[in-house]
Amino acid sequence: MKTMLKPSKAAKAEAELAEAIRPGQSIELLKELHILTREGRLNQDSRRKLKQVYHLSQFIEKLLREMPGEGAHATLADHGAGKSYLGFIVYDLFFKALGGGHVYGIETRPELVARSAALAARLGFERMGFLNLTVAESATSPELPAQIDMVTALHACDTATDDAIAFGLAKEAKFMVLVPCCQAEVAACLRETKALALARTPLAELWRHPLHTREIGSQLTNVLRCLLLEAHGYQVTVTELVGWEHSMKNELIIARRTGQRNGGAARRLCELLAQFGLDALLETRFRLPA
Ligand SMILES: C[S@@+](CC[C@H](N)C(=O)[O-])C[C@H]1O[C@@H](n2cnc3c(N)ncnc32)[C@H](O)[C@@H]1O
Repeated sequence: MKTMLKPSKAAKAEAELAEAIRPGQSIELLKELHILTREGRLNQDSRRKLKQVYHLSQFIEKLLREMPGEGAHATLADHGAGKSYLGFIVYDLFFKALGGGHVYGIETRPELVARSAALAARLGFERMGFLNLTVAESATSPELPAQIDMVTALHACDTATDDAIAFGLAKEAKFMVLVPCCQAEVAACLRETKALALARTPLAELWRHPLHTREIGSQLTNVLRCLLLEAHGYQVTVTELVGWEHSMKNELIIARRTGQRNGGAARRLCELLAQFGLDALLETRFRLPA
C-alpha cells in the first residue's frame, strides 16, 4: 500500500515562496515592502496583505489591458496609498515592462509619502509619483493630470473612498477599483435621524443595536456608492476580494465607465436617501449629475 508523504517544512516554505514571487518581479521591492525577509524568505505576517494585493492587481491589470496599447500609457491614481503596496506591485508587474504609464500614490501621512518616493527612486521606478495630499485635495491639484484612467482605493479610511469616487468622476476615469474601509458617516446620520420614515416599521430592527447600526450603515453606504456610480454612467460589479478569512473589509467594487447615465439608479438613490432620512447627503456625498 502506498503511503502519502507529508511535504517537509522546508519544501512547503519553498512552494509558498515560489507562489509569492512572480516572473520578473523585483526581489528588492519585496524585501523593502517586508513581504520577503532580508534572507529572502516569505514574511508570514505579510502573507495576508500580499494575497489581497496580488488579487487586486490581477483585476486591475485585466482592466488596463482593455485600454488602447494594452494600457501601456495608462495613468493610475491610488488613493489612501499607505505604504503603496498596491501601486508598487502594479508598477512592478505591469507598467515596468511596458515602458509607459504612470502611477500616482495619494497619501496624507508625509513620512509614508517620503518613504515611497525614496523607494521608487532607489528601484528606478521613474513613472511613479507620490503626493502628500488628501484625496479631496488631489482632485484639483495641478500635480495630477486632468484625466486619470484608473482610480484605486484599497481600504482608504472612512469617507476617503467617497472622495476617491468624486475624484474618479471629476477625472472621467475609465475604471474605478475600490475596496472600501468602514465608513462612519452614514451610520452617524442613521443614529441621529433614526431613519425617519422607517422608524416605525419592523425594518428599524435592522439598526436598533449599535453594532447593527454600524454594519447597516456600512452596507447602505456601499449600496449608495454603487447607485451613484451608475447614475454617473458607470457599470458596476460588486464581488469579494479574497475569502472572508483573509479580511473583514472584503467588498470589491469595480466600476467601468460607459458614459450612459442610469436615471433609474439616480431615482433609487434619491428614494433610498429619503427613506433613511439621509437627504442631506444628496448635497454633499452623493451628488447626482446635473
Ligand atoms: C488602512 S490604510 C490602507 C493603505 C493601503 N491602501 C493598503 O491597503 O495597504 C489607509 C491609508 O489611507 C490614508 N488616508 C486616510 N484618509 C485619507 C485621505 N482623506 N486622503 C489621503 N489619504 C488618506 C491613511 O493615512 C492610511 O495610510
